[in-house]
Amino acid sequence: MTRYPSADSRISAENIRRRKGGVPIVCLTAYTYPVARLLDPHVDLLLVGDSVAMVLHGHATTLGASLEMMIAHGQAVMRGSVKACVVVDMPAGSYEASPELAVASARRIVKETGCQAVKLEGGVDMASRIAAIVAEGMPVMGHIGLQPQSVEKDGGYKIKGRTQDNIAALLSDAEAVEEAGAFSVVIEGTMEAVAAKLTRHISIPTIGIGASADCDGQILVIDDMVGMTVDRVPKFVKEYANLRSAIADAAARYAAEVRGRAFPGPDHVFKTASGKDKT
Ligand code: KIV
Repeated sequence: MTRYPSADSRISAENIRRRKGGVPIVCLTAYTYPVARLLDPHVDLLLVGDSVAMVLHGHATTLGASLEMMIAHGQAVMRGSVKACVVVDMPAGSYEASPELAVASARRIVKETGCQAVKLEGGVDMASRIAAIVAEGMPVMGHIGLQPQSVEKDGGYKIKGRTQDNIAALLSDAEAVEEAGAFSVVIEGTMEAVAAKLTRHISIPTIGIGASADCDGQILVIDDMVGMTVDRVPKFVKEYANLRSAIADAAARYAAEVRGRAFPGPDHVFKTASGKDKT
């Protein structure tokens, strides 16, 4: 059985809940072992987002994520981190049908990955799923505002909170998620002033993405943040590096050296029969 770095050394969901109104909570998505290792010293929370289906597997939407996919990436991130609170997304289809299905899927994720919490999308409509999972002792992070699992139903990625009715619905969603027992809630793709209002309105930390600097924390998709995203980058993303050009440049130089027989060079081949070459 795989052993993951001890839960005692990690930031817990309860630690995150207590940080309402304090120093902003730093969150990023992570899907793989090496990236989790690189991010772990710098963040409070790593989300194994169902965005993995788009970012690493090339699906058009997050609906391409499966429970097996989330568990495999959750295990890799748990192996690569020692300190961060690791939250794994519940994929579409794994929780909506009933509270019983939600509990069974969450139990599989928590048991097979050892993660600290799960996340699911929805407000008033999914509050009973959150409450059922929390009642079984598994912490839940909510996700309201723009919900990527609903983009096909919503007719695209639409910013929320532009109308009074929509603002009222968001307030009800935020209250429902809090009352259901979530330890924090992601607010995605929402008008800045509305995200700030939601943050003041509820007592659990809000984690913003395309929301407001007034949220209790921020999250970005790691590939967007390091400039690896090859398709359209959303307006709310800030690229802190440009790995796209670094990788394209490295590939071009490698190709030129292979074609010109400059690689492998003397440092990259084994020459001595005695076996004293550096490996
Ligand atoms: O799947 C994901 O990456 C997410 C974040 C964008 C919050 O849900």
